[in-house]
Amino acid sequence: MKRIVILISGRGSNMLSILEAGLPLEVSAVISNRRDSEGLHLARERGIETCTVEHANYPSREAFDDALAEKIDALSPDYVVLAGFMRILGNAFVARYSGRLINIHPSLLPAFPGTNTHKRALEEGVKIHGCTVHFVTDQLDHGAIIVQAAVPVLDSDTEDDLAARVLAQEHRIYPAAIRWLLEGRLRMAGGRVFGGPPGRGILASPDIADER
Ligand code: GRF
Repeated sequence: MKRIVILISGRGSNMLSILEAGLPLEVSAVISNRRDSEGLHLARERGIETCTVEHANYPSREAFDDALAEKIDALSPDYVVLAGFMRILGNAFVARYSGRLINIHPSLLPAFPGTNTHKRALEEGVKIHGCTVHFVTDQLDHGAIIVQAAVPVLDSDTEDDLAARVLAQEHRIYPAAIRWLLEGRLRMAGGRVFGGPPGRGILASPDIADER
């Protein structure tokens, strides 16, 4: 059975969606860079091994990355899954796990890389927002895209409303992407990912169905 390591920093709801999806995998460990991550408790409650590599204990990004890689390599996972992991990883770390390191980002990349994506989406007035699962490269939030889900942005939305709507989709697409990866259904060519089931139609927001 394939093995994954999940890296988190906080709440851990994406981690939980992966743990509870019944995927054909073994979670070797959940690692957090913060001792107080709520997600660590959730993992432990489910009998998953956890550990902490606290970035604050290391003098440089490289030293932290090396310590993290040492922990990960000791578990020899097939894939490393970033699930709300809020540290930027250096080029050497990313290269070490090239093609085996995936992330979920709360926007339709390449729109809104970085933080505060829902606030920025509201400020820009976009009508469709969403989330992306992608391979990690040395460019922040910019690797080959595996799957995206879109949600409408409603006139009445607060940042929290939008975040919740996107998060519900994150919990659907991340386990799906991991399943495709484990099943060997994804193929990379020219910086694009192919495979996975085809999309099923057109999403418009506001809806234009009545205008046809
Ligand atoms: C998610 O929105 C994820 O896309 C982003 O950080 C958030 C983490 O949430 N990278 P959780 O810890 O998975 O609940």
